[in-house]
Amino acid sequence: MILILIFIFSIKFKNLLLISISMVKSQELEKVRSRILTELKCPLKDAAKNLVFGKGNPDASIMFIGEAPGAKEDELGIPFVGAAGKELDKLLRSIGLTLDDVYIANILKYRPPENRDPAVDEIYRHTPYLIDQIKIIRPKIICTLGNYSTKFVLAQFDIPNMKKISGITQLHGKINPLIIDGMEFMVIPLYHPAAMLYNPNLRKVLGEDFLEMGRILGLKSVEVVEEKKEEKTVKEPKINKETGSKKEEKPKKEVQKGLGEF
Ligand code: URA
Repeated sequence: MILILIFIFSIKFKNLLLISISMVKSQELEKVRSRILTELKCPLKDAAKNLVFGKGNPDASIMFIGEAPGAKEDELGIPFVGAAGKELDKLLRSIGLTLDDVYIANILKYRPPENRDPAVDEIYRHTPYLIDQIKIIRPKIICTLGNYSTKFVLAQFDIPNMKKISGITQLHGKINPLIIDGMEFMVIPLYHPAAMLYNPNLRKVLGEDFLEMGRILGLKSVEVVEEKKEEKTVKEPKINKETGSKKEEKPKKEVQKGLGEF
């Protein structure tokens, strides 16, 4: 009886602890958000409708870092709510993850006009707040989406060193253990979900990279996805109507076309 009570108490205690950690992290993130609103000086801020700070679980083990808000994100002040966000949601759901499991933020906190690439000066102004977000959330895994966030994180937040880092075509799907300011992360660069809207060949690559990420995380849901995939590919052998013999179908070869850099 006592053992059962201790067991129930320890579960309740663990849940309470997790809730309070999450609340503290939320408050810390809120302070960073307020600092951006009061102290950041940047022409993008003057032109944008809203600050696009971040969304998701402040105590997540996985953090996604995108590039910059688009029109829809600027409108609503929430990252990844437009077309790229819908693709990201689908990819997350494909391995059984939801917004409760991850946190999502961007390199730039305000939308660049016409969705142009981030300028170096803007990266300098905006990323100190991203670094604060990373330090508060302390995720085990950072998934960088596209070239800018990949180069920024793998350059260990050192902007001049970003040009020494290879492009996403070489790096996507590979795990990079990283220690920055005493914090240990696994960094997994991924193609930006917007890239597959322009280049449909990337849909398969991103899907595979997400599955690999799920395997690294030991997600049970990935086993289910893989079992379903296997069921689909193992087809019943065709019966030859003339001889009555069963003929194995040869699996079709996948042709991978050239992948564009995002
Ligand atoms: N693309 C990004 O990189 N971030 C967003 O928030 C939306 C689209």
